[in-house]
Amino acid sequence: MFRLFIALLALALASTVKGGCTAEISSLDDVSAAASCSTVNINSFTVPAGMGFNLQLATGATVNLNGNVQFGNKSWSGPLFTVSGESITFNGNGNTFDGGGPFYWDGLGGNGGIEKPAPMMKIEISGTFSDVVVVNSPERCYSVGSNPGPLVMSNLVVDDSQGDVPNAQSNGLPAGHNTDGFDVSTTNLIIKDSMVHNQDDCLAINKGSNIVFTGNTCINGHGISIGSITSNVTVSGVVISDNTITSNVQALRIKTDATATGSLVTNVTYSGNTGTGMLQFGVLIDQSFPDTLGTPGNGVIISDINFSSSESKIAVNSGADQVAVNCGSGSCQGKWNWADLTVTGGEDGPITNFTGIENFSQ
Ligand SMILES: *[C@@H]1O[C@H](CO)[C@@H](O)[C@H](O)[C@H]1NC(C)=O
Ligand SMILES: *[C@@H]1O[C@H](CO)[C@@H](O)[C@H](O)[C@H]1NC(C)=O
Ligand SMILES: *[C@@H]1O[C@H](CO)[C@@H](O)[C@H](O)[C@H]1NC(C)=O
Ligand SMILES: *[C@@H]1O[C@H](CO)[C@@H](O)[C@H](O)[C@H]1NC(C)=O
Ligand SMILES: *[C@@H]1O[C@H](CO)[C@@H](O)[C@H](O)[C@H]1NC(C)=O
Repeated sequence: MFRLFIALLALALASTVKGGCTAEISSLDDVSAAASCSTVNINSFTVPAGMGFNLQLATGATVNLNGNVQFGNKSWSGPLFTVSGESITFNGNGNTFDGGGPFYWDGLGGNGGIEKPAPMMKIEISGTFSDVVVVNSPERCYSVGSNPGPLVMSNLVVDDSQGDVPNAQSNGLPAGHNTDGFDVSTTNLIIKDSMVHNQDDCLAINKGSNIVFTGNTCINGHGISIGSITSNVTVSGVVISDNTITSNVQALRIKTDATATGSLVTNVTYSGNTGTGMLQFGVLIDQSFPDTLGTPGNGVIISDINFSSSESKIAVNSGADQVAVNCGSGSCQGKWNWADLTVTGGEDGPITNFTGIENFSQ
């Protein structure tokens, strides 16, 4: 009886606690067995077209990406890669996930043309996710929406640079479109020391709190964004620091839907960011999305948006606006300390419906 009890206990433990096994993944056939192992090694392989690589991990598991993973090309909804689990250590080792972007890119992104798998990389872990290179995401790249605890993402590369130029399918448009680097709707997230070269937002925070974006480089896209903000969501406690933004449409932006109601964007601190070659705006805070500087709505309250701690220096191109703030009536609130913002080049830009910006003049 006692022996039976011990045997059953051992069996129960083996299935819940990580077994100490090491799983080798060299095809999708190996993925389900990896779910109970403490170490998971991913070798080079190609995921069959139209299928997702969905990696569910035991608590505390370590993943080593030991080779490059390609995804077969087929029009479908995605995502291409999903990883979930608690207290995970994901080591990319500089290896690559290749989304096959040029196969899909038609200049239209999610707005038309063929259906493109998106997001490419769905991250649902707590712990760390580092040293991964993604090339050629068909559309949006990383989506972080349900990490079960604090998550640090670092030393990542999203390289969609091939999408900057037209291809045979894009009718003269840049081939890549809607290739967001990081789409974030979550709490307790740090993204740092990463590089995004793309054709849409480097970062877009749609909701959540306690989010840090620091030491990253954003090339050629639409800058570091909060929004667009829809109805009934809160964004609070965001730090955007020490990033380098090169040749983006705008460097730093908050955009709220003109029709949104019941939402709040508060406690956002920008410090030590450097921007050069902005095409349209240095800083853009706009409550008229999807228009730009159109008729603003006032159903999203924006407060406590500061440039502090260390100087953010942004240079815009000639013809661009340095700073544009387009608030709905009464919906930008309180005092905002912009003592540590310097924008050069271009023209001043409009600041409408708000007089609470302190220590900054243009
Ligand atoms: C998918 O197509 C792209 C663009 O032609 C190509 O670079 C990539 O190698 C293809 N992927 C596979 C798995 O064949
Ligand atoms: C927002 O919340 C309000 C109040 O609960 C509700 O009436 C409204 O339908 C919600 N709007 C959206 C777009 O979810
Ligand atoms: C603002 O956000 C920071 C970072 O998340 C947090 O430490 C701080 O307590 C927040 N301040 C307020 C007044 O909520
Ligand atoms: C101020 O807000 C109101 C209401 O949202 C809007 O109609 C108006 O256009 C705004 N004023 C300016 C100068 O943008
Ligand atoms: C932002 O600046 C305002 C005005 O100086 C200040 O009252 C507020 O505490 C600051 N908020 C943060 C999060 O630093």
